[in-house]
Amino acid sequence: MDNWIEETLQKAVDKFRRSVVLARKQEVIPYKSEGGRWVGAPFDGNSWWTGGFWPGLMWQLYHFSGEEAFREEALRVERLLVAELLRFEWLNHDVGFMYLLSCGAHHRLTGDEEARRHTLHAANLLAGRFNPAGFIRAWNGDRPGWAIIDCMMNLSLLYWASAQTGDPRFEAIARQHADTAMREFVREDGSCHHIVIFDPRTGKALEKPGGQGYCAGSSWTRGQAWGLYGFALSYEGTGDERYLDTACRIADYFKAHIRADGLVDCDFCQPQEPQRIDNIASACAASGMLKLARLVGDGRGDAYREAALRMLRALDALCADWTNQSPGILQKCTAAYHDDGAGRHVNILYGDYFFVEALLRLRGADAQLWQA
Ligand code: GLY
Repeated sequence: MDNWIEETLQKAVDKFRRSVVLARKQEVIPYKSEGGRWVGAPFDGNSWWTGGFWPGLMWQLYHFSGEEAFREEALRVERLLVAELLRFEWLNHDVGFMYLLSCGAHHRLTGDEEARRHTLHAANLLAGRFNPAGFIRAWNGDRPGWAIIDCMMNLSLLYWASAQTGDPRFEAIARQHADTAMREFVREDGSCHHIVIFDPRTGKALEKPGGQGYCAGSSWTRGQAWGLYGFALSYEGTGDERYLDTACRIADYFKAHIRADGLVDCDFCQPQEPQRIDNIASACAASGMLKLARLVGDGRGDAYREAALRMLRALDALCADWTNQSPGILQKCTAAYHDDGAGRHVNILYGDYFFVEALLRLRGADAQLWQA
């Protein structure tokens, strides 16, 4: 098994060494790849929520391999993302993904003070989206009461900011959002809603509509992955056992629904046909389960480690392109069950980010590069 981890990581380094050259030539922040080329964000230009995964991947590969080209590419894209902090109005709650993985990792790995300030700036933007009725607002436009399970992944930016500044307000906001999410998103069986619409004045939950999954009340798999990983991060940030218990409940639900071939559908409640697989969900859940395994320790953790390994092996065996045909690795990534224009059964870069992150965790590496 150790050989498989090392060999797969080395193949990732070799692939992205070539893909970096292409991204620079195309002057793009890779979002997905098609026809042998990178494709940038489908909406909102460089403010699109996934912009941090490419520099995040670059920092991971730099940390692993020491190759300078990865660091330079991370810095090229960081400059583009920092410009978006000033543009501001297209940014949303996903600034955690965007700026922890880029500026946060940059600061931690090199001590760069400007990168630290930019990360703090992003934390203030996230804190500014908090509604004192008890939740962090997700998207922009006419949706002031909308919150989504994905936001659990962004709370790390707030825990990071409290640790950096000694100011407990960031953590207090994260805890209030996590408590609301635990109450309103997580169901009895450990599955999660994607969206909850709150009354923005009272905080009362009004509606739980369908989102990127199959339908209202279904279990969009990437949302389950965000939930299990995100509550594990909140346990790590606060030491509150309720968050650990919630992460384990979601993880138990998730691992009971992995397909026989080790892949993961786009929604655990979707019909058998048509096929909709989401490699991002399994890569992200694998990384989250490996984190959880470490937090709960041996015994309970073994089952999470085994499930993670099964998913990662299946991704490599059934969905990875290691040739020069595609600049990215995982080929069956699906942005949403009902096509939203962001990609179906194609390579989407943040699937590759979590795949590499999970392999690094399997190897015992420090995969949260932004964390002091
Ligand atoms: N956070 C949006 C998504 O997972 O597609």
